[in-house]
Amino acid sequence: MAHFDHNAKPFSEKWLDERLAVKTLRRVLAEEYWIPKDINFLWAMGMILAVTFGLLTISGIFLLMYYKPDVALAFDSVNYTIMQEVGYGWLFRHIHGVAASVVFLIIYIHMFTGIYYGSYKQGREMIWISGMLLFVTFSAEAFSGYMLPWGQMSYWAGMVITNLFSAGSLELNAVVEWIRGDYVPGDAYLTRFFMLHVLLLPLVIIGIIVLHFGTLRIPHVNNQEGAEIDFDEEAKKYLAGNTQEAKVIRFQWDFLSKDFMVLGFFLILFFYLTFYHFAFAMDPVNFDPADGLKTPAHIYPEWYFLWSYEILRPFPKDPGLIAFAFSQVIFVLLPFLDRSPNAVPAHKRPMFFIWFWLLLIDMILLTFMGKLPPEGMFSTIGLWSAIAFIVLWIALPFITKNEKKI
Ligand code: HEM
Repeated sequence: MAHFDHNAKPFSEKWLDERLAVKTLRRVLAEEYWIPKDINFLWAMGMILAVTFGLLTISGIFLLMYYKPDVALAFDSVNYTIMQEVGYGWLFRHIHGVAASVVFLIIYIHMFTGIYYGSYKQGREMIWISGMLLFVTFSAEAFSGYMLPWGQMSYWAGMVITNLFSAGSLELNAVVEWIRGDYVPGDAYLTRFFMLHVLLLPLVIIGIIVLHFGTLRIPHVNNQEGAEIDFDEEAKKYLAGNTQEAKVIRFQWDFLSKDFMVLGFFLILFFYLTFYHFAFAMDPVNFDPADGLKTPAHIYPEWYFLWSYEILRPFPKDPGLIAFAFSQVIFVLLPFLDRSPNAVPAHKRPMFFIWFWLLLIDMILLTFMGKLPPEGMFSTIGLWSAIAFIVLWIALPFITKNEKKI
């Protein structure tokens, strides 16, 4: 039994330390958590993501107070009650909508920063894998949330995506019915997606965020040169007062103060969008209530799913589904497909540098094509961009295998 100081004041540092080891926690998570000095603003994206998730959670809790998960009431509870009756309801809806869109932009920047700097190498594979799990769960969270206003796009996007399970030659209609709890998206469907959106998926996301932070702690974050840093040695220099020479800074408050500055710029932009340009995050078609008898002329997903949608669309049945499944899992395998011994930034790896930019441009092209109707030249460009995406990933192990050690 540990020896307790019975005179320690309740909730004083000593009292808490004896019960919760707060000093050890602070030492491991803050004071002795070393971050490389050689990083740029892109390393603030992780913190911006964490804060945006916080904004989504808080605004979501306010929306939850008035939302009604019932096909007869959902549309009005959002468009009438929240938007017009509840004081500042519109503000919480706009924060939620804008954050749901912007979070994907930041996720993509965060992912491509990791790819560019090879941050999935040198013992950082689990950071990457947990990050990709976050990407998948955020995607499911966004999709389930999109169902809730029960507008035309909620209904028809739900119809199209759930139909995918029976689109192959296996024709798994029973699976589609099982997911929907009905023949078509209806009340059972809305209620279960509501549960997923407000309970199960947020819990899973919080769990994976903790895992993602945990995976960062031992290999430490990467740096702009991909240099292998002896963190113990550099920390000693720092603690000896040699902060100029040391290659590391403390997480608290050196790194955090840099993060907060970038976060400040982000929040200015975020609230500017929330107050003045929220429309980009709200599809006009979704302001018509769901109607199972009136298919919209053109059904498309939100912008952040367009690239993978465009990989599905140009191919017939089974090949389309296989290509789509490929696009969903391939990023997870990146640490194992990049076989180069070098963990340096892309501009020092000529072939990989070209691969990186081709992939990024290809995904932007797929995104634009995914929004346009699949006709004439657009469908040809869409098809070739989808093929290019697959070829680029298949080529990756070959172009990285023979890379010379730098
Ligand atoms: C969506 C929620 C996410 C949150 C809250 C989050 C948070 C963070 C934080 C705070 C960091 C450390 C600082 C930084 O480098 O930015 C980090 C690093 C990292 N994250 Fe995420 N992340 C998320 C999603 C992702 C995704 C989708 C990926 C892609 C697979 C990813 C991959 C990485 C990698 C590879 C690093 C290490 C960067 C380095 O070592 O330099 N994360 N993340």
